[in-house]
Amino acid sequence: MLKANISVLVSGSGTNLQALIDAQSSGVLKSGEIRLVISSAEDAGALQRAKDNGIARAVVPAKQTTREEFEAGISALLERHGTELIVLAGFMYILSADFVKARPGRIINVHPSLIPAFCGKGFYGLRVHEAALEYGVKVTGATVHYVNEIPDGGEIILQKAVRVKQNDTPETLKKRVSEEAEHKLLPLAAELVSRDIVRRRSSK
Ligand code: GAR
Repeated sequence: MLKANISVLVSGSGTNLQALIDAQSSGVLKSGEIRLVISSAEDAGALQRAKDNGIARAVVPAKQTTREEFEAGISALLERHGTELIVLAGFMYILSADFVKARPGRIINVHPSLIPAFCGKGFYGLRVHEAALEYGVKVTGATVHYVNEIPDGGEIILQKAVRVKQNDTPETLKKRVSEEAEHKLLPLAAELVSRDIVRRRSSK
């Protein structure tokens, strides 16, 4: 059966992209295939990971462009590569309502907290963990969800809790949430959604 065609959107080091690539090799991700990596930054470490694994890659710079140009650049690449599922893996930009509404159920995102805590506009990367520590929560985690027009507001697919330790810094917490939760959940969710896309395609 033809696998779901996946594009991964990234902005940074790409450890979540790596988890997806590893899941493809191990067979955890078997209903979808990563065919393209699009980075919003030229110097994103994720690009090297794509290169090392023979995956097509492209840069659509987010800086010094309008949002319309940025999204038009991404859309053109997605169309050209026949993308069926878009995985946001450390992608640091909020996609417009028009972009998202045109692709219902076809965009998923990994967020480093237990939504609805510490999410939405302004909560990304290390800031999420800083906010969790400031608040004093004893449990945090990660969430994979569908993307809709509300930032971090789409239907939840999977969540996993991670304990906060007494001496945690934002950096140690980020590392543990990534390793114990994000890197496990994102491949599982990508498989679930890919399987669904393939099933729907073959029942048409
Ligand atoms: C990850 O922790 C991801 O959850 C977070 O950025 C990091 C990217 O790491 N994403 C967000 O905060 C989006 N709201 P990576 O580039 O190593 O995968």
